[in-house]
Amino acid sequence: MITSFIFDLDGVITDTAEFHFKAWSALANKLDIPFSRDDNEQLKGVDRMGSLQFILDKSDQSFSETDKQALADEKNTLYQSMLDTMQPSDIFPGARELLEQLRARDFNIALASASKNARRVLDCLQITDAFDYIVDAANVRYGKPDPETFLTAAQGLKVAPLECVGIEDAQAGLESIIGAGMHSVGIGDAKTLKRAELVYPSIAALNLNEVLALGQSS
Ligand code: G6P
Ligand code: MG
Repeated sequence: MITSFIFDLDGVITDTAEFHFKAWSALANKLDIPFSRDDNEQLKGVDRMGSLQFILDKSDQSFSETDKQALADEKNTLYQSMLDTMQPSDIFPGARELLEQLRARDFNIALASASKNARRVLDCLQITDAFDYIVDAANVRYGKPDPETFLTAAQGLKVAPLECVGIEDAQAGLESIIGAGMHSVGIGDAKTLKRAELVYPSIAALNLNEVLALGQSS
């Protein structure tokens, strides 16, 4: 039986991908490294230093650990200045309603994000209190696709993985859910997220009864 829902943040509850794109583009541009929207797609669910390394790998220049930290900090400062423009209305349609519906039906609700800015985003959207437990990049040793992020969320809720549904828009996140032994729901393109048990084009399209039926055989 499904008792718990564990949500990714970026791309599931709100769209921060455009801010990440703008901030990484500015950095890549300064370093004379090409950076496209397709590149940005591949960085969904990938943590900050992993994303930076992906970009630096396209360059012949060499960077020390100190250089890398400074570059990651520079990107994050720019990214945070964009986050500060976020409003509660920037939540994806249907996400607030889904969280309210789950709360009214007494499901446990957690966040499993690869972002160190997760709490800041939740605060901007004014939905921090909607979550019983929050896991962000600061709480885990191994980021997605390792299962640790989703497993830590289940442990925080004190529930078994099989009672949980993980909801993700990124391939790396989906691997984390599957590795954790949870039910999986993808948000986005069914071709990219083909390993998910159910895929919906948006959070607004999620059919709760269909998702709950996933738990009937487990
Ligand atoms: C999410 C996004 C990634 C981002 C990562 C780290 O998973 O999908 O694109 O790189 O968070 O975000 P942060 O806010 O810690 O830099
Ligand atoms: Mg995501």
